[in-house]
Amino acid sequence: MTDRKLSLTDPDSGKTLELPVVAGTEGDPTMDITRLNRELGYFTYDPGYGTTANCKSDITFIDGTEGILRYRGYPIEQLAEKSSFVEVAYLLLYGELPTESELSGFDRDITYHTMVHEQVNTFIRGFHYDAHPMAILSGVIASMAGFYQHNLDVNDPEHRDLAAKRLIAKMPTVAAAAYRHYMGWPSAYPRNSLNYAERFLHMMFSVPAEAYEVNPVAAKALDLLFILHADHEQNASTSTVRLVGSTGANPYACVAAGIAALWGPAHGGANEAVLRMLNQIGDVSRVAEYMEKAKDKDDPFRLMGFGHRVYKNFDPRATIIRKACHEVLADLGQSDPLLYLAMELERIALEDDYFVERKLYPNVDFYSGIIYKALGIPTSMFTPMFAIGRTVGWVSQWLEQSASPHRIGRPRQIYTGKGERDYIAIDHRA
Ligand code: CMC
Repeated sequence: MTDRKLSLTDPDSGKTLELPVVAGTEGDPTMDITRLNRELGYFTYDPGYGTTANCKSDITFIDGTEGILRYRGYPIEQLAEKSSFVEVAYLLLYGELPTESELSGFDRDITYHTMVHEQVNTFIRGFHYDAHPMAILSGVIASMAGFYQHNLDVNDPEHRDLAAKRLIAKMPTVAAAAYRHYMGWPSAYPRNSLNYAERFLHMMFSVPAEAYEVNPVAAKALDLLFILHADHEQNASTSTVRLVGSTGANPYACVAAGIAALWGPAHGGANEAVLRMLNQIGDVSRVAEYMEKAKDKDDPFRLMGFGHRVYKNFDPRATIIRKACHEVLADLGQSDPLLYLAMELERIALEDDYFVERKLYPNVDFYSGIIYKALGIPTSMFTPMFAIGRTVGWVSQWLEQSASPHRIGRPRQIYTGKGERDYIAIDHRA
């Protein structure tokens, strides 16, 4: 709370309400409207919650105008360059960078929770052979409440911590198993000797018939992508996790709901949509045609991987991924025509008045798919890759909310339906 107040006067009643201004450590000041309805009888209308803060949080800071993203105060650029995903996970969960012994203890905890109950594999086998891995992921993660029902007390900090670690540890195991189900391959079990990203690649690609060596370039690239996706404050899936969590629901249900929200093409599903779009465009000569489609309000086509609710300058994650994309392709000795198509699309869009005026820049999803593709990850697995990284953010935000007093999330509405009317007997209806 600050000393500042904003006054709001209702011209009809003449009543004035002093609205306290709440300031965080950084970011725009916020008007506290919690007394508005009680005192003046009004609700606020903010579709898409574009100007509404639903919580106070110590975890992630974004300045969309300046293109700033920080986890617990640390700039994303520094974490991307110097840290590892497991260290970032510790930072997001507990607020500080770990000491060596804290990191090794945390890494050991995560490593030893990566296996899933064998019945989970049976459950996965029950899905249709070509089920989308996001459908499997959300279903299987929700089912985990049934496997850990003796550690589900959301008011017990130890239970909460255990659930957070289990979710971070098991998400890659389930995601890889979903892919193997599609491929018809037998289960692959996590290898404790490997690190988080290596272990995932091993579970994805190893087959019983031959030895599988994890490519260190691929593992490093994946670790970087997990860091960049780890948290993004109150985005749609994280807000979903918080909303479900506000009811006291168990963490597996909350994260399963987050996965479902992430799947949408306006959110995490965009990485898959970008690759489909690039394939559909196919050639630089057709970019202009697709730019026109994207600008046409009667055409549902949007330039996928472009635009962001918060970033109105550039997405700092996209800058890092763009650079990594070139490096990874060079290190793997690959050249992908889609990368050149993407660069050309970006160049043309950034010069186009429509995109310039609306401040539409490439977002995190624009280039990530090209790296995933270079690592041999199929398109349908792109959004599960996002989910693996974002699990850390979901559980960190859920832990933060669960550890402090909070109210059930319950937005209001402007009712625009019929007024009261009498029931009409069926034989009197027109
Ligand atoms: N292509 C064409 N026009 C666009 C696009 C786009 N990708 N994005 C926004 N616009 C236009 C939009 O039509 C509107 O124009 P007008 O003012 O003339 O009506 C204006 O830009 C503002 O857009 P908005 O829809 O009000 O913006 P929003 O904040 O509600 O939506 C968004 C943000 C990310 C959902 C949207 O930009 C979009 O659909 N982008 C494509 C999907 C995508 O890449 N999503 C990934 C987001 S980043 C990672 C993540 O969250 O998972």
